[in-house]
Amino acid sequence: MSRVLTGIQSSGKPHLGNLLGAILPAIELANAQSAPAFLFIADLHALTTIRDPAQLQENTYAVAATWLACGLDPERHVFFRQSDVPEVTELTWYLGCLAPYPMLANAHSFKEKAERLAEVSAGLFTYPVLMAADILLYQADLVPVGKDQKQHLEMTRDLAGAFNRTYGETFKLPEPVFREEVMVLPGIDGRKMSKSYGNTLDVLGDLETLHKRVKRIVTDPTPVEAPKDPQKCIVFQLYSVVAPPEAVEEMRQRYLAGGYGYGQAKEALFEALKTRFAAQREAYLHWSQDRVALEKVLQQGAAKARAEAQKTLSEVRRKVGVRPVAVSFS
Ligand code: ADP
Ligand code: TRP
Repeated sequence: MSRVLTGIQSSGKPHLGNLLGAILPAIELANAQSAPAFLFIADLHALTTIRDPAQLQENTYAVAATWLACGLDPERHVFFRQSDVPEVTELTWYLGCLAPYPMLANAHSFKEKAERLAEVSAGLFTYPVLMAADILLYQADLVPVGKDQKQHLEMTRDLAGAFNRTYGETFKLPEPVFREEVMVLPGIDGRKMSKSYGNTLDVLGDLETLHKRVKRIVTDPTPVEAPKDPQKCIVFQLYSVVAPPEAVEEMRQRYLAGGYGYGQAKEALFEALKTRFAAQREAYLHWSQDRVALEKVLQQGAAKARAEAQKTLSEVRRKVGVRPVAVSFS
């Protein structure tokens, strides 16, 4: 009985890379266990970059609608918004008091910005501690994440170990689950597909916009008649992760034979994206237009998550020497 847990920051609407690289594999891993998984929207983490409250909420609903559209069953699993469980910020403090400065100063997310220290908030600096609290609060066993999160998982294990050594056995040490088989998908400009590069494909949104974006994918100037190397082409790389294997093989042969233009390949890619995500697009439209329903799902998830969080936190409070929260003064 392994408890799977993962979070996705609400820093924007999820794109094809997030779907294939994170959301769909996490749902698959969650469904393969008999125990309910804990899946959440990390809106407190998103606050390290987003300062516009309306934008934060917009993104949070977009991420929630995406998980549900991708088939997450909120009855079977615990699906919630990080900020609905305030216990996580309290645990962040206890763990933060055990986090050595050099460990945090060594984090990639911090080091990337270390040359412009004035732009580094305390929130960004302690980002890994909040992530450790996310995982330890729910006593997770398996944490599916991208390779970029490896260091954060190591810090989580270190903090759990430090707490257990200081105060006695309390936390399980979680295991990361890396998705070796999923490659890092390229965006329309050939760099890693990422919100921060503005090179994403929004496969759950409007089809006309998607079509335009697909047409903008960068290709080399090889003429139509000439044979082409499929491995070097972004259109082919994307096609190969969304189309059925026979169709991929057929396109590969066409590239090698010549007489097949990138324009034709882009049309085939657009059609494949349209078909592959048709059901999810319809479900996304439904969820994103019904915030009342989304809120209901999130609140139900929060109630389940909080019950679990309070169990861990009351043990933690007792162990560190802080009194239980007074429920009433009467
Ligand atoms: P972004 O780079 O768009 O801001 P995030 O860093 O929020 O995306 O990533 C959320 C999840 O999606 C992570 O688990 C990450 O591994 C996965 N992911 C992001 N971009 C890609 C991509 N281009 N290919 C595969 N997986 C990706
Ligand atoms: N930091 C993760 C990312 O950027 C998101 C995240 C927050 C997370 N808390 C988590 C992932 C806990 C796994 C477990 O992708």
